Amino acid sequence: MSQQSLSVKRDGFTSSFGVLAATLGSAVGLGNIWKFPYMTGANGGAGFLLVYLLATLLIGLPVMIAEITLGRQAKANPITTLQRLAPRGQPWWLIGAFGMLAAFLIMSFYSEVVAWVFAYILKAIDGSILSSDPQVTGAAFGALISDPLQSLLWQWGVLIFIGGILLCGVSKGIEAVTKKLMPLLFLLLLMLCAVSLSLEKASEGLAFLFQPDFSKITGSVVLMAMGLAFFKLSIGMGTMMTYGSYFRDDQNIPSTTVRVMAADLFVSMLAGIAIFPAVFTFGFEPAAGPSLVFITIPAVFAQIPMGHLLMVVFFVLAAVAATGAMLSLLEVPVAIIHERFGLSRKKATLISLLILALMGSTCALTNSTLAEFKLFGMTMFDLFDYLSSNIILPAGGIFVALFVGWVWGFDKLKLALSNHGALANEGLVRVLFFLLRYVSPLLILLVMLKGLGLF
Ligand code: TRP
Repeated sequence: MSQQSLSVKRDGFTSSFGVLAATLGSAVGLGNIWKFPYMTGANGGAGFLLVYLLATLLIGLPVMIAEITLGRQAKANPITTLQRLAPRGQPWWLIGAFGMLAAFLIMSFYSEVVAWVFAYILKAIDGSILSSDPQVTGAAFGALISDPLQSLLWQWGVLIFIGGILLCGVSKGIEAVTKKLMPLLFLLLLMLCAVSLSLEKASEGLAFLFQPDFSKITGSVVLMAMGLAFFKLSIGMGTMMTYGSYFRDDQNIPSTTVRVMAADLFVSMLAGIAIFPAVFTFGFEPAAGPSLVFITIPAVFAQIPMGHLLMVVFFVLAAVAATGAMLSLLEVPVAIIHERFGLSRKKATLISLLILALMGSTCALTNSTLAEFKLFGMTMFDLFDYLSSNIILPAGGIFVALFVGWVWGFDKLKLALSNHGALANEGLVRVLFFLLRYVSPLLILLVMLKGLGLF
């Protein structure tokens, strides 16, 4: 691949705010609105939240900074990045290869959840889900996911939609759109929080979310909280490396990363505050699992004037947020196939979508035709989620940290993070280096071994 064709593709982000918005666009997605609430609900509430926060700070943040830095240094897809930066003959590029596998696993179930969101836009319009009765909203969701044809068609619709955006090369377009619509999503979530906080049993919901009960924290809960931290920040599989390769050379990486992390946490908190008071007030089951958001959010909207219209807006915005995240996932295999195998971006996109349609359909049919098809006791939907979040992403994190801490080394890290001396942040780099060299890899490994029941 010649330098020139690389630089044609890599026009990169133009403004400092553009970098922030795009990176945030990858991080914020269904992870905040769907995964965070349901996992917090299923794992006992505040204790889970606390472990998730710790994992984000001690592990997520350093690994995210490391990934972005490596990407910006090499300005290439994850496989090429590690080939360029590692000593000859050492197989660090495998991080990128496993990242590609993780991208397909994640997109397989993610695209199905995006499909539910798209379907919910229509359901919101026709008003059939606007109710505070758990029976009604639960039944509506059940009917959608247990219909094999609907599930498949919605998923393929999503794939065609996302593929269309990538094919038109409208990454600028989606960026611009996301930048404008994200603030709207914040606003709507804030509104939902206000409504939710005024509900009768709001305090019970808040207590569940913020008063830790440490008896619920087991090894596997800690592993899931850490997996969520990786998933939320889009790290451990090369997405942030790829985005880092579009970063400007004068971008302050640590400060950008901290801001993205903080904003991402904020959105998750808003989603939690919007949902749990309603859960307790209307008698939903906090441990309902993946269906939680789809049955509780309509109940909150049913309480507000203009709730019908606002619910439509909400699901449209959720779809926008999910689309940004999904694009960043798809960008990984597309960039790798395009640059490593020399295929055009168009072919790379089509091939990726084809693989995805095949793998993804096993997730789409998980609540109908393939409900009984299980491996290791899990449906494909659950298995792909578990494998990626709890194994591949953390393992990727270990190797990224080890690579920076032991192979790349302090001097190169310092040079890159200080933008070649322009920023005076040596103290920060020292702390970061220490975390990457010792703390993150050991901590991730311990959590993984414990969570998988290996010690
Ligand atoms: N972070 C996104 C979300 O929370 C999902 C996502 C996008 C992702 N790119 C990723 C997860 C890369 C893991 C790895 O919705």
